[in-house]
Amino acid sequence: MNTSHGGPAGEQEHIPVLLGEVVAALSPKDGGTYVDGTFGAGGYTVALLEAAQCTVWAIDRDPEAEKRSKAVAARYPQRLQFVQGRFGDMADILIERGVTQVDGVALDIGVSSMQINDRARGFSFLRDGPLDMRMEKTGRSAADIVNTWSERELADAIFLYGEERHSRRVARAIVAARVERPFSHTLHLADVIRAEVRRSGDGIDPATRTFQALRIVVNDELGELERGLKAAERILKPGGLLAVVSFHSLEDRIVKTFLKARSGASSRPSRHTPASLGAVPVTATFTEISRRPVGPSDLEVNTNPRARSARLRVAQRTSAPALASVAGGLA
Ligand SMILES: C[S@@+](CC[C@H](N)C(=O)[O-])C[C@H]1O[C@@H](n2cnc3c(N)ncnc32)[C@H](O)[C@@H]1O
Repeated sequence: MNTSHGGPAGEQEHIPVLLGEVVAALSPKDGGTYVDGTFGAGGYTVALLEAAQCTVWAIDRDPEAEKRSKAVAARYPQRLQFVQGRFGDMADILIERGVTQVDGVALDIGVSSMQINDRARGFSFLRDGPLDMRMEKTGRSAADIVNTWSERELADAIFLYGEERHSRRVARAIVAARVERPFSHTLHLADVIRAEVRRSGDGIDPATRTFQALRIVVNDELGELERGLKAAERILKPGGLLAVVSFHSLEDRIVKTFLKARSGASSRPSRHTPASLGAVPVTATFTEISRRPVGPSDLEVNTNPRARSARLRVAQRTSAPALASVAGGLA
């Protein structure tokens, strides 16, 4: 779970997680083209640009990231292109700009320290701010959801996306509290949750899980991750590399399931299955570089606690046509 909650805006810069591992996984080459689908503060982008005379297409859905990209682009003339958008749309974004194939794609899922630390963005349950959480700064906010969803819908989301055992109690408390006063600020919501759920033995703030659930819903983060994986499948050239860093089990499960299915590991029919049963031959679109995800070293966790739960999965594109464009399904 990406639970870092540092100081006010600007106090703590974003420290890239598993940076060396991601760059080593993509092993950038001179003349190559790479996608950093989650630009953030540009940590991965800069490392890729430093590692080879390559070009990087950086994408971030947050308009603030575009401002940061300008300084980086000035340092690497002609080699960095930034597009504000979603990585789920990366294939279309690139194809529209004349790029039909890339050598590598990096995704660093979740929120940046800048987003969490800026109270005005509403991601933090430690400092008061508008209950917002929209990475794109448009669309439905977290306040819209807690003020309008039914108790049942809230409980289901908090259980599914926050993995909160006390989801029903939290949802009941939210619905009771909003009758008195609709939610507009983060600390109001955090206080209502804390009054309902006691701090557990591991010291994690009881608001953590519900805030995570709301963030995931507001930004459709899991849907975006699925779309991003399929888009990477479309845009990577044969031999191209995909590196995905995730921060909690819900995300890692999606990446793991996708790569397992696309490498043929989950859907390859048994040789005992009669052809008449309709077993469709699967052509793998990815080869998993390793079945087990890579985690941070002790040194990295000591210097950057946010890295604690990070998991990197790496896969190489085969020459088989993308399934996403053929069948449209995840598996
Ligand atoms: C963990 S930070 C990335 C940090 C970056 N690797 C670095 O080293 O600075 C995640 C970033 O991804 C962006 N993001 C999250 N979901 C996205 C999506 N679906 N499409 C594009 N950007 C997204 C967020 O706005 C945030 O800036």
